[in-house]
Amino acid sequence: MGGAWLIAAWAATVMAAQQPIAFPHNTHMQLGLQCIDCHIGADDRAAAGIPSVRKCMLCHAKLAREKPEVKKVIEYANKDIEIPWVRVYGFSPDAHVKFRHAPHYRAGISCSTCHGDLTKATVAERTVTHNMGTCLTCHRQEQASEDCAACHF
Ligand code: HEC
Ligand code: HEC
Ligand code: HEC
Ligand code: HEC
Ligand code: HEC
Repeated sequence: MGGAWLIAAWAATVMAAQQPIAFPHNTHMQLGLQCIDCHIGADDRAAAGIPSVRKCMLCHAKLAREKPEVKKVIEYANKDIEIPWVRVYGFSPDAHVKFRHAPHYRAGISCSTCHGDLTKATVAERTVTHNMGTCLTCHRQEQASEDCAACHF
């Protein structure tokens, strides 16, 4: 029973990480931003990346400063500390997976295929499961690599 509870608690943390700031994706997408304006590696690098607090301050030095969650952003920036975002997606280091965004972007696969529709989301949640089975199912369909060394180091 203790075990079942632990698994349930772990699953809940994975689904909706408790973030230091309630960053709303939907509000920011409505301003006309693109995903890669903030996740600047998602088109041409391995990692998509999480924006630095300095990026947030390009707007929040002036905009929406009275909002309580934005005040927290300003506090981090004033102390010159990065916001300690909790990771939503990722693999255990023992699985030795090397995922790369760039080839998927080049192949025209949309962000939402692998991350769900964040234009309607608030804080990012893990809505899509990624494991070897889900990677390989698509790779077979798309005739992409099934070579162990493509995905593992
Ligand atoms: C204004 C900047 C901004 C824009 C625009 C933005 N994001 Fe984010 N994104 C963030 C921040 C900050 C986080 C970390 C907080 C969180 O996880 O909710 C994040 C987290 C994520 C995560 C979870 C990362 C992880 O594994 O921890 C994904 C996936 C993601 N964004 C995808 C997208 C997609 C897809 C779009 C376009 C529809 C998008 N983002 C647009 C700032 C942005
Ligand atoms: C392009 C300008 C721009 C950038 C870049 C930007 N924001 Fe915002 N953000 C806004 C505006 C404008 C609002 C107010 C939107 C509204 O009230 O509808 C806002 C609102 C917010 C809110 C308050 C939401 C609420 O209603 O309580 C938070 C939190 C926030 N931003 C965090 C961030 C973080 C963290 C970053 C950096 C990863 C970031 N923003 C980058 C323009 C921006
Ligand atoms: C083929 C599936 C796939 C596509 C398409 C995809 N991602 Fe990802 N994304 C992943 C996986 C898997 C991870 C976890 C990678 C890891 O930890 O090594 C991830 C991680 C992330 C992260 C966390 C930070 C990081 O660099 O690891 C962000 C942010 C993100 N993706 C944003 C995006 C955006 C924006 C797009 C569209 C331009 C996108 N992703 C397209 C599968 C995908
Ligand atoms: C929705 C379909 C889809 C999913 C899901 C997907 N991929 Fe891919 N992947 C592709 C396509 C298409 C390519 C590009 C093939 C090409 O350029 O010939 C690719 C390319 C790659 C490459 C580059 C291969 C090379 O030979 O350079 C790697 C590495 C990779 N994927 C890893 C992964 C991993 C790891 C996952 C699971 C976390 C994953 N992919 C999930 C469709 C997908
Ligand atoms: C298209 C990408 C892809 C290919 C090709 C691939 N794997 Fe994987 N593999 C993954 C991902 C992603 C995981 C991590 C799954 C998870 O964390 O749930 C994984 C997990 C594993 C694990 C489990 C590791 C652990 O700690 O649980 C083993 C073992 C493994 N792969 C071996 C192989 C072998 C052997 C091959 C070649 C026959 C191969 N993989 C080909 C993506 C791939």
